[in-house]
Amino acid sequence: MRISRFAAAAVLALVAVATPGIAQDPKQPVTTLKAAEQNSDIDIYKWEGDRAPIPRDFVQQPPLIPHSIKGYQITRNFNKCLDCHAWSQAPKSGATKVSITHFKDREGKELSNISPARYFCTQCHVPQTDADPLVKNTFKPVEGLAAKK
Ligand code: HEC
Ligand code: HEC
Repeated sequence: MRISRFAAAAVLALVAVATPGIAQDPKQPVTTLKAAEQNSDIDIYKWEGDRAPIPRDFVQQPPLIPHSIKGYQITRNFNKCLDCHAWSQAPKSGATKVSITHFKDREGKELSNISPARYFCTQCHVPQTDADPLVKNTFKPVEGLAAKK
């Protein structure tokens, strides 16, 4: 009895040693999505300061976030973005109201509140940092948005 308990403890200890840790050194390049998630609040790059809305490159583009979102939480019960961007808050906060398209569910049915499909804002809207682009981008705005020469 005693021996088998000891053996079980030894096996558990081995498993613990053999399982690689998931902690990621913030100074190392991000290697996995998991690590990126864990590091999203660590300042590897500098957030760009608050500024006026950033021009869009195509009509359907989710506008880029022109301010820092450091520490802004979006969880099941709380959405910091809606503190300012909800229709009820916008007159006070001066933020753009969330788009009317965000009140439709994925079948196109109109809802009385933000659609669950649009709840996690940063799936589509991204803040800006001073990071260098990972790849060169030669994208040109569509005709309807291109500045007239
Ligand atoms: C403390 C208030 C506040 C919070 C919280 C906030 N915002 Fe904003 N947001 C603003 C203001 C103010 C503007 C700029 C409005 C202007 O200058 O026209 C803005 C602009 C934006 C824009 C640009 C809109 C456009 O038309 O180009 C986006 C996108 C945006 N915010 C997304 C977010 C997201 C996503 C979050 C949560 C992660 C968030 N904001 C949290 C106040 C806030
Ligand atoms: C699935 C992608 C997606 C998600 C999630 C999403 N948005 Fe958007 N958002 C868009 C797109 C695309 C546009 C531009 C086209 C449009 O108006 O629908 C937009 C437009 C906006 C605008 C500009 C409205 C205007 O009048 O110009 C604001 C502000 C905004 N979103 C805020 C938010 C906030 C806050 C959340 C979270 C509660 C959110 N969005 C979630 C895709 C998304």
